Amino acid sequence: MTLVTNRTLLDVAAGAAFGVGAFNVADLTMAQAVLDAARATDSPVIVETLAGSHPFGSDSVFWGLLLRLIDDYPEVPVALHLDHGPTVETCVRAISAGFTSVMIDGSLDASGLPASFESNVAVTRRVVEYAHDRGVSVEGELGTIGGSKDGSTRAEIVLADPAEAAAFVAATGVDALAVAVGTSHGAYKFSTPPSGSVLRLDLVASIAALVPSTHLVLHGSSSLPDELRARVNACGGAVPSSWGVADEEKVKAIGLGVRKVNQGMDHYLAFTAGVREALAADPGSVDPALYLAAGRESAQRLLEERMVLFGQAGRAPLYR
Ligand code: 13P
Repeated sequence: MTLVTNRTLLDVAAGAAFGVGAFNVADLTMAQAVLDAARATDSPVIVETLAGSHPFGSDSVFWGLLLRLIDDYPEVPVALHLDHGPTVETCVRAISAGFTSVMIDGSLDASGLPASFESNVAVTRRVVEYAHDRGVSVEGELGTIGGSKDGSTRAEIVLADPAEAAAFVAATGVDALAVAVGTSHGAYKFSTPPSGSVLRLDLVASIAALVPSTHLVLHGSSSLPDELRARVNACGGAVPSSWGVADEEKVKAIGLGVRKVNQGMDHYLAFTAGVREALAADPGSVDPALYLAAGRESAQRLLEERMVLFGQAGRAPLYR
């Protein structure tokens, strides 16, 4: 078995009460780091990617390569997930390409402002009908997770409301729900250590109790470790200080009902640290094979640690 849906992957995780990391990839070597880490730790895993956010110039080229790569890991249960699909059309393209899960992000309107509940329901429902007819899982978003996927804008955080979450799930039939509980996307999150008043994990518990068959997703949950930022900055980077979501908070969230833990920036930082260190160690080198391999190995080390932390390590046999 290789490709499974998020519904299957997360149903098993819910039954055994563990979390599954969904790691953003922007390149094939990053995807290989995720899959190698999953293989090394015997983990199920979610590989996720944003449309257009890669160096290949064409989603269909990158997505085809991702699927071909996943074929090389028959022992790893993997869901291939579209992160933050902006439109129905983008989700349809991903489903046609072979993704087993898509996210339709109906939380913002075309101008980037919070969308109405009704328009979010309408667009999400269209994707659910199309995807479920084809055996593909769907994630929706309620409330607005702050920050931005690429750091260029900063959407306001609008927290998810438990009663609305229950109504949203009933009206759309989503398999997974991204809930805004105070996290934000990107490499710049909190300017002070997050406290209970910033990250509203109590909301996770309230929502989980109301939608027991829908898998909750924590977006924007990178930790932004000092150690990774220091490695990048020691080799010419200039990544400003910021606090992310502490490891203990992620473990607490899983205990309260979060099943899918989205992490992009930590993986990007670890990969970039490896690349920068390789280039700094040998300034005359111009061989991408060497520095990209260093990025992959650096990322894999971090990903293995996260798979152990989330409890997915050692769980692949549950899918066989
Ligand atoms: P980070 O920006 O914290 O890595 O979160 C990624 C994410 O939530 C992707 O949807």
